[in-house]
Amino acid sequence: MDYLQITGGAKLSGAINISGAKNSALPVIAATILSDKPVTLTNLPNVVDIRTLLKLLTILGGEVEHNNTIATINNGTINSTKAVYEIVSQMRASILVLGPLLARFGECEVSLPGGCAIGQRPIDLHLKALESMGATIEIKGGYVRAEAPNGLKGAKIIFDKITVGGTENIVMAASLAHGTTTIINAAKEPEIVQLCEMIKEAGVSIEGVGTSTLIIEGTGQKPLTFKEIKIIPDRIEAGTYLCAGAITNSSITIKKANAMHIQATIDKLESMGCCFEINNDEITIHPSSRLKPVSLITSEYPGFPTDMQAQFMAVATMAIGESVIEERLFENRFMHVSELNRLGSDIWLKGSVAAVRPVAELNGAEVMATDLRASSALVLAGLVAKGVTNVHRIYHLDRGYDDLEGKLSALGAKIERLNNRV
Ligand code: EPZ
Repeated sequence: MDYLQITGGAKLSGAINISGAKNSALPVIAATILSDKPVTLTNLPNVVDIRTLLKLLTILGGEVEHNNTIATINNGTINSTKAVYEIVSQMRASILVLGPLLARFGECEVSLPGGCAIGQRPIDLHLKALESMGATIEIKGGYVRAEAPNGLKGAKIIFDKITVGGTENIVMAASLAHGTTTIINAAKEPEIVQLCEMIKEAGVSIEGVGTSTLIIEGTGQKPLTFKEIKIIPDRIEAGTYLCAGAITNSSITIKKANAMHIQATIDKLESMGCCFEINNDEITIHPSSRLKPVSLITSEYPGFPTDMQAQFMAVATMAIGESVIEERLFENRFMHVSELNRLGSDIWLKGSVAAVRPVAELNGAEVMATDLRASSALVLAGLVAKGVTNVHRIYHLDRGYDDLEGKLSALGAKIERLNNRV
C-alpha cells in the first residue's frame, strides 16, 4: 500500500494552483443525469472520488470520456437505474444519484451508503423530502428502492437540519418535478450555488440561490440541456495549503482560488496572527512566527467548515497557548487526535470539544490516516515534526486531494510517495 514519507522542518515558498472542488464536481456529475444530451465539465480535480462517480454513470449505461480535468458525459444512453453496492460502498456521495435518477426515470434503486469513519451519516432527510414529493420509498436488501411512476410533485420541504447532500438531492429532484418545490433551511455552501446556477443556466427557474430558502419550478420530467460547466475552486484544498503556510511559518501563494469562499478559514488564521494578501484569484499567506491559539466551532457555511477542523488542529499544536476546537457537525470526527498525539501533540478530548495544549515540538512517527481531512492534518503535522513521519492508508487522501505530494514538493516540502508492498 502507498504511504507518504515526510521529512519535517523544510521551509516552504512559491506558488501552487488550486484544483476544482471535489464536493462541487460530485453533485455536478450527478446532475448530468437530469439531461439526455452530452455535457462537458472542466476543471475537475484529478481524484479517486470523481473517477468512482464517473464509473457509476458508465455502469448505469451513460457514456463518459474522461481525461484528467475534463469529462464529457452523455446520459442519453442510461439503461439502468440501479446504483450498485460495489460503488456506493466505496463512496457515500454516490447517494447523490438518487434524486436525479428518480426525477428523470420515475424509479431507481440505490444502495444504502452505511456508516463512515466520521459518524453515522444517515440519509433520512433525503428520503423524507423525496416522500413529500410523492415518492414511494422502501428499504430492502440494503437498497433504497424509490418509485414515482408519474413523476415527482413539487412540495414544501422544511429540513430539520441543514444538509448539504440532502439539499443537493432535492434541488436536482425538484428541477424535473411537476410544479413548484420550496426548500426551507437549505444549505448555502458554494457547491450548492454552483449546482443551482448550472440548473438555472439550463432554463429552470430557481429563486433564492445562496440563501436558505430555494424555490424551484420543475420541468415536469422534461430532461435539461446543460452548457459547459467549469468546476469552482476547491475551498478545502485552498484552506489546507494556507494551513501548510501557517504551520511551517512560510509565505506561500495559492492561485486559482476564491477568497470569498474561505473567509471563515482566513479569519481564523488571522486571529492566530497570520496576514494575507489577496489579489483576484491569488492568495498569499504571511505567517506569524508566534502562532496564537485559536478557538473555533464548526458549523454550516458561511461558518467555519468541519472539513477544515482537522487541519486547524494540526496548526494549533504549534500555537503558544491552548486552543479549543468544537466539532458540531459529525459525532466522530476526531479520529486524528490520537494519531496527532503519536507525533507528540498534547490534545485532550471531552465529548465534541478538543483542547490543544502547546508543545515544544512534534517528532516524526508512523501514523495512520482515518479519513480524508484527518489525512491532510497528519501531513501538515509531518511538515513540522522533527525527523521522518510516515503517513499510512493514504487512499483516503487520494479520494479528495489532487496531487498533494506534487504540490507540496513544488513548495519545497520533503515529501514522497512510497510503497511497502503489503
Ligand atoms: C457534505 O457531506 C460533504 N460531502 C462533506 O465533505 C462535508 O463534511 C459535509 O457536507 C458538511 O459540510 C460532499 O459534499 C460530497 P450533510 P454530506 O448532509 O452532504 C446529518 C469531505 O471531507 N444528516 O450536510 O453527507 C449528518 O449526519 C466531506 O470532503 C442527517 O442527520 O453532509 C451530519 O451530522 C466529508 N440526516 C449533518 O447532517 C440526513 O439525511 C450534515 O451532513 C443527512 C444529514
